[in-house]
Amino acid sequence: MRILVTGGAGFIGSNFVHYIYRERPDWHITVFDKLTYAGNRENIAGLDENRVAFIQGDICDEAAIDAAVADVDVVVHFAAESHNDNSLHSPRPFVDTNIVGTYQILEAVRKHGKRLHHISTDEVYGDLELDDPAKFTPDRPYNPSSPYSSTKAGSDLLVRAWARSFKVAVTISNCSNNYGPYQHVEKFIPRQITEILEGRKPKLYGSGENVRDWIHAEDHSSGILAILEKGTLGETYLVGSNGEKNNKEVVELILELLGKDPHDYDHVNDRPGHDLRYAIDASKLITELGWQPKYTDFREGLKATIDWYVANEAWWKPQKQATEEKYKELGR
Ligand code: NAD
Ligand code: TYD
Repeated sequence: MRILVTGGAGFIGSNFVHYIYRERPDWHITVFDKLTYAGNRENIAGLDENRVAFIQGDICDEAAIDAAVADVDVVVHFAAESHNDNSLHSPRPFVDTNIVGTYQILEAVRKHGKRLHHISTDEVYGDLELDDPAKFTPDRPYNPSSPYSSTKAGSDLLVRAWARSFKVAVTISNCSNNYGPYQHVEKFIPRQITEILEGRKPKLYGSGENVRDWIHAEDHSSGILAILEKGTLGETYLVGSNGEKNNKEVVELILELLGKDPHDYDHVNDRPGHDLRYAIDASKLITELGWQPKYTDFREGLKATIDWYVANEAWWKPQKQATEEKYKELGR
C-alpha cells in the first residue's frame, strides 16, 4: 500500500505518519507538504527514508499534485489552513488551500482513478447550545460559522460532488478538537502550556464557558486507519471520544498539572462569532468499524501532552514569539 499524506508535516498529519509507520510497517508513505508556518519537517524527522518520502509542494499546484497522486494507491488529505483566529484576520489562504487545493486533489484522484480519504472537522456543523441533548451526526445539515469552518465545509461538499458526479472513490471523516504532541503553539492547549512555561498567565477567550470535545491525535489516527481499511466508499464518519470540557476546566487542569494555582489565568477579548459548543456522536465508527479510542482519560492524555511540551522546548520556542505577536495585534 502506497499512501500520499498531504499536510503530513503538520500537527495531525505528522501524528498520523508516525502512527502508520508504527502500525503498518509494510506501507510506503509519501508526505506532500508546502511547509507553511504550520508545517515542520522536524515533526517527521528520523524515519527510515525507504519507507517515508517527502515532497515539498503546494496542493494548489496542479502539476505537482498530479505527479504525486499518480504514484500512490490512496491519498489521505490533511493539508489545510487550520486556525480559526487566522481565518478571521486573513481569510484568503483558507479559500486557496482548503477549497482550491481540495479541488486540485479531487481532479488528480479522478484522473488517475485513486481513492481519497478527506480529513475534515466537526466545525462544519456549526455549534450547539450548552444544554442541547443532541450531538453531531453524519447526516446533520452543515452550518459553519467562520472562514475556516466554511472553507472546510466547502471542501467536504466538493468531495461529495466528485463522488456522486464522477464516481470518485472517497471517504470523509469529521473529527472533533485534537490535542497531543507537535501541535502548533497558536492552538488553545499548547498556547496555554507554553504561556505558563514562559512565566505568563493562560488566556481564556470571553467567559471560558465554550465547550470543545477533545480527542487525542493518536485516537484520530486510529479512526482514520479503521476507515481506510474497513470503511464503505462514499460514507462520512464522525471521529470523537466523548471528551467534552469547557475551556475554563481545561485551563484549570493545565495549571494544576503544572503545579500552579488553578485560578491564576486572564480573561481576554472573545473571538468574534465564537462557536459555543461542539459534540460528536461517533457511534457509526464504533459500531460499524469496531473503532475504540485509547485515550479515554483526558487528564492522563493532557499530562502526557504537557510532559511532551516540557521536554521539547527546542521544538516550540522558535514559533512562540511570532505567535504571541500575532495575538497581540488581535488583542487576544
Ligand atoms: P496544521 O495547521 O497543524 O497543519 C497543516 C499542514 O498542512 C501543515 O504542515 C502545512 O504546511 C500544510 N499545508 C498548508 N497549506 C498547504 C498547501 N497549500 N499545500 C500543501 N500543504 C499545505 O493542521 P492540523 O491541526 O494538523 O489539521 C490537519 C487537518 O485536520 C486539517 O484538514 C484540519 O481541518 C483537520 N482537523 C483538525 C482538527 C484540530 O483539532 N486541529 C480537528 C479536526 C479536523
Ligand atoms: P482552538 O485551539 O483555536 O480550536 P477551535 O477554534 O478549532 O475550537 O481553540 C479551542 C477553544 O479555546 C476555542 O473555544 C477558543 C478557545 N481559546 C482560548 O480561550 N484562548 C486561546 O488563547 C485560544 C488560542 C483559544
